[in-house]
Amino acid sequence: MILIDGKKAAAELRQELKHEVTGLKAKYNKVPGLTVILIGDLTPSQIYVRNKEKSANEVGLKSEVIKYPDSVEEKTVLEKIEQLNADETVSGILVQLPLPKHIDKQKVIETILPSKDVDGFHPMNVGNLSSGYESSVPCTPLGCYLLIKKVEPNLSGKKAVIVGRSNLNGKPMTQLLLKENCTVTITHSKTKDLKAECLEADIIVAAVGIPELVKGDWVKKDTIVIDVGINKTENGIVGDVAFDEVSKNAKALTPVPGGVGPMTIACLLKNTIECFKRLHK
Ligand code: GUN
Repeated sequence: MILIDGKKAAAELRQELKHEVTGLKAKYNKVPGLTVILIGDLTPSQIYVRNKEKSANEVGLKSEVIKYPDSVEEKTVLEKIEQLNADETVSGILVQLPLPKHIDKQKVIETILPSKDVDGFHPMNVGNLSSGYESSVPCTPLGCYLLIKKVEPNLSGKKAVIVGRSNLNGKPMTQLLLKENCTVTITHSKTKDLKAECLEADIIVAAVGIPELVKGDWVKKDTIVIDVGINKTENGIVGDVAFDEVSKNAKALTPVPGGVGPMTIACLLKNTIECFKRLHK
């Protein structure tokens, strides 16, 4: 079984991006800039944002974090986004989710200029991705996609089963694999026989938020299994895949942690650089 090392893949990607940033700096005399807005004091969000900032600095991006208390008014956040939209030194804007209840997530997402939407959440980017046009692609599915391609460069005709239909993961993952000529099945909580669906798969992407849902006997030999889950349990952090069981059957599997997570952040940096390049084309 191939243990897919997301930490190593992310470090390699960051190295490539660092070279790219050096080249852009030489060409344009400026570097791509990423601004993250963090609202409230949720610990996981703070950790993610700190890691994003650290990685951005490592590859030579200009990075900035703007923090607001939980009580911040929606209007203040929207005005800040407008200001960042107009700021030429800002290539990418990310508002860390989840947001406090009184702030309308969709309004926030739609206020970010599509050309600076490094999350790929803006409806314009969602539409472009599903139509097969150039767009920002959400970081987590992009990271999964790059890991799958490392194991199997030619995905044409493969059967992929996505467990979970979220806008964040399942749906964009589907689009990326369709573009690679996979036959894609999206499954979810109302799917009749999840095990039977998974047993058909050459590729499984589990992104549903249920601890160790995908079992060893759901996976045939030669299946590539990507685990997007990060679930807190009594036994610590576990994925959506029963790792020990599945590792006995699968061709390749991502661990949790150290699989998809590091790639998500590296892909955010990649998206920031892509936004910069599109702006300067
Ligand atoms: N919170 C958890 N994952 C994400 C993500 O990919 N983007 C944003 N903006 N917030 C998140």
